[in-house]
Amino acid sequence: MPASSPTEPAHGALVDGFGRIARDLRISITDRCNFRCTYCMPKEGMEFVPRSELLSYEEIVRLARLFVEGLGIESVRLTGGEPTVRRDFHRLISMLAELRTPEEMPVEVSLTTNGSSLARHAELLVQAGLKRVNVSLDSLKPERFAAITRRDALSAVLAGIDAAVAAGLDPVKVNTVVVRGQNEDEILDFAEFGRRRRVQIRFIEFMPLDASGGWSLDKVMPADEIVSRIAAAHPLEPVAHGAEPASRYRYLDGQGEIGVIPSVTKPFCGNCDRVRLTAEGQFLTCLFAVEDLDLREPLRQGASDAFLAELIKQAVGSKWAGHRIGRVDFVRPRRSMSQIGG
Ligand code: GTP
Ligand code: 5AD
Ligand code: SF4
Repeated sequence: MPASSPTEPAHGALVDGFGRIARDLRISITDRCNFRCTYCMPKEGMEFVPRSELLSYEEIVRLARLFVEGLGIESVRLTGGEPTVRRDFHRLISMLAELRTPEEMPVEVSLTTNGSSLARHAELLVQAGLKRVNVSLDSLKPERFAAITRRDALSAVLAGIDAAVAAGLDPVKVNTVVVRGQNEDEILDFAEFGRRRRVQIRFIEFMPLDASGGWSLDKVMPADEIVSRIAAAHPLEPVAHGAEPASRYRYLDGQGEIGVIPSVTKPFCGNCDRVRLTAEGQFLTCLFAVEDLDLREPLRQGASDAFLAELIKQAVGSKWAGHRIGRVDFVRPRRSMSQIGG
């Protein structure tokens, strides 16, 4: 349960010029990944941030503490790249899970992962304090999975999803980026998969954040079309939703839910409750932000919490209304998905 009401900012809350309140912090902890998904990274030649420029776990926790104790953040999601490739990743989870809001509520710690290491680590992560997980999976066909991710790892990811459910992570969500002409023929297969395994499949519209610049509007499969295709086989009804990007639909026969993330055809920026920290310690107020605030430098120069908090509040105060994907004035951020953290 959120510690404060959705309409009333708590003391110290991060409120932007449109009255939106940031409650969710997404922290990318690495730009590296063991996959090379076509809609995210190039096959070769990706330049990674040198280790000395990544925030250490202690630096991440120092900033997360400030956000949670002083700036109204209630949930923290770890992203990447692939967060689990960082050494002793469970150690970071346990450090973050100890954080408490001023109302003494534990912060909710979640993870977005490609799932390839969950079969080995899900239990350890739960013991460390992880509450829930979102796993990326774009094809149920081994060859296509390998073509999309450029890794032959479908069975590892499927085992990872099962391990996450078995370890008690709840909910387990599956993220499927639908690219027209690539995997749209699997929409119903994914719906059946979700119904069978009791996981929530979220169909995501392809966004122009791929490193190779291959995005075009005609490759976006509109969320409405996805919902109608599934509803024709299994009737659905919408579920009321809050600030999260996913719009959810419930199967009328009680076999769970799906979600769609319609970033392109129905932007949800008006409800945005997110802010982001990159692996190098840049603070971003939007996934598509073209400006960032460097927190690493002042942090390493010994800045006080009050000073950092002031910088962060100012950045949030000037947050824009939202992205302009598909419009002539859309400006692509210089970072691609794996460098921002999704
Ligand atoms: P929960 O709602 O907390 O379960 O997570 P989520 O769906 O926001 O996060 P996840 O990391 O699973 O991301 C799913 C998809 O939503 C990815 O394609 C993200 O890039 C996208 N996404 C996450 N946050 C935003 C956002 O603020 N704006 C837009 N346009 N897309 C977002
Ligand atoms: N468009 C939409 N979603 C993307 N993701 C990665 N690249 C893109 C893109 N270009 C998704 C991944 C992962 C999440 C963090 O972002 O599938 O689940
Ligand atoms: Fe790695 Fe995720 Fe990007 Fe795929 S989408 S290359 S799993 S960071």
